Amino acid sequence: MQPIFETSRLLLRPRTLADTDACLAMDADPAVTRFVTGPWSDPIAHRTFIEARTLGPYPRGLGYWVICRRNDAESFLGWVLLIPADGTRPEIEIGWRLRQAEWRQGIATEAAEPLLRHGFVTVKLPEVIAEIHPDNSGSQRVAEKLGLRRIGVVSLHGAPTLRYSMTLAEWSALQRLATVTGKA
Ligand SMILES: CC(C)(COP(=O)(O)OP(=O)(O)OC[C@H]1O[C@@H](n2cnc3c(N)ncnc32)[C@H](O)[C@@H]1OP(=O)(O)O)[C@@H](O)C(=O)NCCC(=O)NCCS
Repeated sequence: MQPIFETSRLLLRPRTLADTDACLAMDADPAVTRFVTGPWSDPIAHRTFIEARTLGPYPRGLGYWVICRRNDAESFLGWVLLIPADGTRPEIEIGWRLRQAEWRQGIATEAAEPLLRHGFVTVKLPEVIAEIHPDNSGSQRVAEKLGLRRIGVVSLHGAPTLRYSMTLAEWSALQRLATVTGKA
């Protein structure tokens, strides 16, 4: 079961097949997919990919969430994910993608925070990773603001990729720090 999350500005709800066209429209912007490997230039394969990624199946509590404005459940700002890395691997990855009109307003960071809490507290994950293109500074900054640490470079789809990680112990320490400094 994927819960619904609310933040000060956002509503996050499980992605469904009804969101496929909005995902396709977002991905039609080359800036959005610039640093991500996928079947973006083949409309049929692209739709099939989005549908398969929406349906999973994923371990309990994991999946994709559509980001909406809190006061408008019909809006589509983009999505965040918490799924097995690349859809298949044992590690669990966190990821984010927004329509370009929504960039640089803190939305990716705000949307990812409840996912991390959910991953560590409810799903009881030992670690969450992110894999990011070396030139994707926006995504790297989101990972760093969330508290993920860069732990190395891996080869993904034949290209060097930065690997970020956060363990349950690291996330818990950040929560304690936030409580002490009044930023919880
Ligand atoms: C990456 C992405 C999700 C960032 O979303 P966002 O909502 O703009 O990010 P935020 O506003 O939460 O920004 C977090 C930080 O990153 C910074 N940032 C955002 N975009 C940036 C960019 N292109 N270059 C440098 N810094 C950037 C912000 O200034 C902010 O840092 P600050 O608080 O110190 O100022 C968005 O650019 C996107 O959807 N890109 C296309 C899809 C993609 O590449 N996804 C990631 C694949 S790994």
